[in-house]
Amino acid sequence: MRFADRVVIVTGGGGSGLGGALVRRFAAEGAAVVVADLDQEAADQAAADVQQQGGRALAVRTDVRSDDDVRVMADAAKATYGRIDVLVNNAFTSNPASILDTRIEDWNRDIDVVLTGAFRCSQQVLPTMIEQRHGVIISVSSVNAHTHVGAAAYSAAKAGVEALTRNLAVEFAPFGIRANALVPGTFRTDVWKERQKIVPDLLDRISTWYPLGQVGEPDDIASAALFLASDEASFITGSLLPVDGGLLAGNPLFARDVHPENHR
Ligand SMILES: NC(=O)c1ccc[n+]([C@@H]2O[C@H](COP(=O)([O-])OP(=O)(O)OC[C@H]3O[C@@H](n4cnc5c(N)ncnc54)[C@H](O)[C@@H]3O)[C@@H](O)[C@H]2O)c1
Repeated sequence: MRFADRVVIVTGGGGSGLGGALVRRFAAEGAAVVVADLDQEAADQAAADVQQQGGRALAVRTDVRSDDDVRVMADAAKATYGRIDVLVNNAFTSNPASILDTRIEDWNRDIDVVLTGAFRCSQQVLPTMIEQRHGVIISVSSVNAHTHVGAAAYSAAKAGVEALTRNLAVEFAPFGIRANALVPGTFRTDVWKERQKIVPDLLDRISTWYPLGQVGEPDDIASAALFLASDEASFITGSLLPVDGGLLAGNPLFARDVHPENHR
């Protein structure tokens, strides 16, 4: 039980994808989990699922775009469980339109949820973490921060999240606080459902771009997050950890065309 007596906040924790896996896995390792999500029903369900398994969880309806909501989220965690050890910035929105078609309100929304939301949540939990002389902030970034996949506002926001991570890491290291970012590739989650209606074998097609030959499963991210949040990672801060099946390491299709003689 790596997280017995630890209190973990997961934004977007009501999600059925990575958010859900993060909540489940932290709870299974003894953490009290605050499920913070815009979707009240989803947050309630995720917390109820944890409680049904004998774990501790609290649902707090939170819009990470709202200063008040985020303050209430941090206060509720502290009031209920007495401390805040881990914050996972996971909530997101992503407008897929081309840059020419992106409306300013959609651009602003993605920046507000992904980047400013991560800043807001971090700012609200830091005083407690400083007081404790202990805390870990993990932000879920994306390969979109490193390479063109579309969704410009989301991608720019994720790149900002990585810069925020480095700032958090260095400024708050003297207080025993670590900050790291996970850089996921494609994961098998509901986010792909709409596009799968148009292209049913979408994830199989995307898989061929991955050196490991498959897309990720939500538990792959949860395993990496639990490691970064644990004391086993006590000397790791300011880092970006790709959890991407090798996508950012290189493109096997490109390499095959450059070196057809090595094609196996
Ligand atoms: N799914 C992928 O293939 C993939 C790839 C790269 C990165 N990621 C990143 O992983 C994380 C999780 O993605 P997922 O697809 O597993 O989603 P998820 O299942 O974790 O769901 C995201 C949750 O965020 C919540 N949310 C949206 N706006 C919010 C707001 N303003 N305030 C609070 N909550 C809000 C939604 O209600 C939803 O429950 C995201 O940060 C995403 O950018 C996902």
